[in-house]
Amino acid sequence: SGPVRVALLGCGVVGTEVARLLLTDGAELAARVGAPLELVGIAVRDVTAPRDPVVDRALLTDDASALVRRADVVVEVMGGIEPTRSLLLEAIASGASVVTANKALLGQDGPTLYAAADEAGVDLYLEAAVAGAIPLVRPLRESLVGDRVTRVLGIVNGTTNYVLDQMATHGLELQDALAQAQELGYAEADPTADVEGHDAAAKAAIVASLAFHTRVSVDDVHCVGIMGVTADDVALAAETGHVVKLLAIAERAGADGVVVRVHPALVSLGHPLASVRGAYNAVFVEAEAAGELMFYGRGAGGAPTASAVLGDLVTVARHRVLGGKGPVESRHADLRPRPVGEA
Ligand code: NDP
Ligand code: HSE
Repeated sequence: SGPVRVALLGCGVVGTEVARLLLTDGAELAARVGAPLELVGIAVRDVTAPRDPVVDRALLTDDASALVRRADVVVEVMGGIEPTRSLLLEAIASGASVVTANKALLGQDGPTLYAAADEAGVDLYLEAAVAGAIPLVRPLRESLVGDRVTRVLGIVNGTTNYVLDQMATHGLELQDALAQAQELGYAEADPTADVEGHDAAAKAAIVASLAFHTRVSVDDVHCVGIMGVTADDVALAAETGHVVKLLAIAERAGADGVVVRVHPALVSLGHPLASVRGAYNAVFVEAEAAGELMFYGRGAGGAPTASAVLGDLVTVARHRVLGGKGPVESRHADLRPRPVGEA
């Protein structure tokens, strides 16, 4: 069968690693898909900026809109709300499948994209949007769809975990540790999204929507970041046998509610979450029949995130070649986000 045409939107920390995997593992990926993956273009803001040598400069364009119309699959790793949402809706309307790592957009307006993809009969895959390399979205969307999830709890932001870890183990100031996290490619383009908890809140909203088959937006998430956590707080926690972690918690509340919150918490040194170091993430999922499940791995960074993106890309490309389609979001009309503290 003919090649699957892939448009890459974004060539930064994640996009460069996606391009690297696509270009270096092409033959192997083609065998898994059943057809070659042809990278038809890479949209960026500045086509003249320096790039990693793996990037074929002839593929660069600053006309993302024209590019998405030439693609079977659009891989979005450029971030932001607009023009990204419009571009993805344009791609979906033209019949392309979408793979995205954009938790900010999905956390704010995921249902618009899910509905558009559903209506167009194309795939919308988002594994990279939550917890980097860790397979978490697919277990929630597929493996656990026959069970009843009661709670999801864990560390879903690598930058803040790295920062808190550096503060605890090396006595670094928050701002110095954050600068390191930026240098390592873990932080968002605007790192206040990490330290103020908004990135974790967007991920919590996505996870809650999938786990509880409802619509939770980032605005429904009670959110406190780590800006108020001082070196003294971290040292005091250590003295009492604890570490400070930024937790995301989504749980059923009462018969018809879901409460979702993000905040720093003291975690006892004996708890598995206490041993989550650096930019790693770990998430516990509790479901009525399955019991407790734990997901652990690299939660941020170019290569780990590209792994999740490529997994989605191979899957949606295979659907286009061999037939088949990924999950459609199911909804309960009767389960609603509730403020913290309300039964
Ligand atoms: P970067 O800032 O490193 O890269 C963004 C890329 O998108 C750049 O190449 C930029 O172009 C391009 N871009 C931005 N806006 C536009 C636009 N309007 N039109 C065309 N191109 C545009 O971000 P990351 O790679 O770190 O993150 C990308 C996405 O992946 C974000 O949604 C982020 O939240 C998500 N993500 C990031 C992870 C990480 O660890 N870094 C992990 C999981 C998800 P130019 O190069 O010219 O500036
Ligand atoms: N800035 C995000 C984090 C990237 O640190 O977790 C991964 O989503």
